Amino acid sequence: MVSRIKRIRQLGLTRAIQVLTGYWAKKDTTIIVRKDLSRINVVQAKLDVQYRWVEKAAIQEFMAAHGAFNASDVDDFVSRGARCLGAFVGPRLVGYVWIHYDYYRFLFFDHQIVLGPGEAFVGPAFVAPEYRGSRIYPALLTQSFRELAKEGFRVAYGNVGVTNTASIRGIVRAGFRPVKRITAVRLFRRFLAWKSEEPAEDMGGIWHEAQ
Ligand SMILES: CC(C)(COP(=O)(O)OP(=O)(O)OC[C@H]1O[C@@H](n2cnc3c(N)ncnc32)[C@H](O)[C@@H]1OP(=O)(O)O)[C@@H](O)C(=O)NCCC(=O)NCCS
Repeated sequence: MVSRIKRIRQLGLTRAIQVLTGYWAKKDTTIIVRKDLSRINVVQAKLDVQYRWVEKAAIQEFMAAHGAFNASDVDDFVSRGARCLGAFVGPRLVGYVWIHYDYYRFLFFDHQIVLGPGEAFVGPAFVAPEYRGSRIYPALLTQSFRELAKEGFRVAYGNVGVTNTASIRGIVRAGFRPVKRITAVRLFRRFLAWKSEEPAEDMGGIWHEAQ
């Protein structure tokens, strides 16, 4: 009897700790990926899609309509010279990918990719929910590689969350390869409690499963 009461108490405490740490602490893992731009296999979307650069106002309107990312991110990206490549079905903007030329900062992971000559960072990206599953994302990525290669860039970097299967599939299809895995735990959203950086040869099998 005593041991049962003890067990219930323990379970209650464990649950309480889970709830509290779920609120205070957040753990996430991302994979940094790399693409050599000397060989690009352009992926075709399953729909008739056109690709062109998108102006700031149009991308902000699209992002607001889909609740995707922050308008202040757009201001920051544009002020640093980043450009946004859009995917259009007829006149309609249905997806985008950002391209950065100086650095890209992952706030959650307290990590920054500083880009050297000939290097660019591709992302974040978004495809409107009603257009998903038509390979627009890998097509956008490979179109961005083509634009970069035309401008003399040699390497593109990107990243993908380990649990984002749809994104991993697109990233693999576009020819990106994993280079580094970063895991971090944040407390109270701001304070970085723990971080690890390791090589990511095969993303622990995820890469091969997605191919
Ligand atoms: C990740 C994302 C950009 C992929 O775009 P997409 O154009 O749908 O990509 P694909 O067509 O290549 O589909 C990739 C996978 O999504 C899955 N998928 C298929 N149909 C889908 C649908 N209707 N809805 C959601 N996912 C679908 C499939 O697993 C597919 O892989 P497969 O082609 O090997 O079967 C899109 O899901 C998205 O905008 N997500 C939210 C934002 C995000 O996560 N961005 C990426 C990180 S910055």
